[in-house]
Amino acid sequence: MRQPVPPLESSASADTVLAAEGLGKRYGGFVALADVSVAFTRGRLTAIIGPNGAGKSTFFALLSGAATPSSGRIRLEGADIAGQAQFRFARMGIARSYQITSLFPELTAHENVRVACQAVHAPARRDLWRGRSHYRALVEEADAALAQVGLLARRSRPASRLAHGEQRALEIAVALAGRPKLLLLDEPTAGMSPEETKEMMDLIARLATERTVLLVEHKMKLVMGLAERIVVLHQGRLLASGSPDDIRVHPEVRRVYLGEGRSGRG
Ligand SMILES: Nc1ncnc2c1ncn2[C@@H]1O[C@H](COP(=O)(O)OP(=O)(O)OP(=O)(O)O)[C@@H](O)[C@H]1O
Ligand SMILES: [Mg+2]
Repeated sequence: MRQPVPPLESSASADTVLAAEGLGKRYGGFVALADVSVAFTRGRLTAIIGPNGAGKSTFFALLSGAATPSSGRIRLEGADIAGQAQFRFARMGIARSYQITSLFPELTAHENVRVACQAVHAPARRDLWRGRSHYRALVEEADAALAQVGLLARRSRPASRLAHGEQRALEIAVALAGRPKLLLLDEPTAGMSPEETKEMMDLIARLATERTVLLVEHKMKLVMGLAERIVVLHQGRLLASGSPDDIRVHPEVRRVYLGEGRSGRG
């Protein structure tokens, strides 16, 4: 018997920093994401979970400006930013790490972060980032990002010579370049050992004390103890949204995670 579905908590409030409104993405005739409305509260850690192909990475691609929505709006502090160039999203303070590695293997840890700092700041060509102080500011900002993920002692090591867990942490340092107000992390624990996973979860918890974090993770158990709020996507649609306790007992979520057959979408 179907139980009533808890309310979706999707409406924006004064604490909302980022909001998706009726967000959708089609690839040709295929609907990767449809009509997703969610508001993200400033300073909170929200996990986005869902089975493979649920649309999690697509949602992040839209929220970070890497892909253009087919429908709907993205509001950053109230302003609709959908359709703007990706570098503008970065400069407005939305940063994203990727599910698949995006590091330059031959560059050192420090160089990888510095390149990202440059990419975020270079288009401005103004104030601090201009002239003599430019290089020094880049170096300091890259060091600050490395320090935040615990990699300052590894700053001169090529990315290819870091352990897997360190490489994933470096990807987060790259995302931290430019001091984003929103950090979007796409499966940062992918391929990690249990020890590395624990360290990464601790790091994410630390980072979330100072900024708004959106974490894509399809291992539900992993995020239950960490996230303050959980958004569940399934087959491109918003299935549920609420506290970990709400989600744990949500009948539709349980059905999806207990494994039902794939059905069509549209
Ligand atoms: N560029 C694209 N062109 C066509 N289809 C795409 C494209 N990007 C994603 N899709 C499709 O959209 C659906 C959602 O993909 P997405 O990568 O967002 O899922 P996901 O929830 O991140 O899955 P996973 O857990 O496997 O990472 C999938 O069926 C995928 O094949
Ligand atoms: Mg994905």
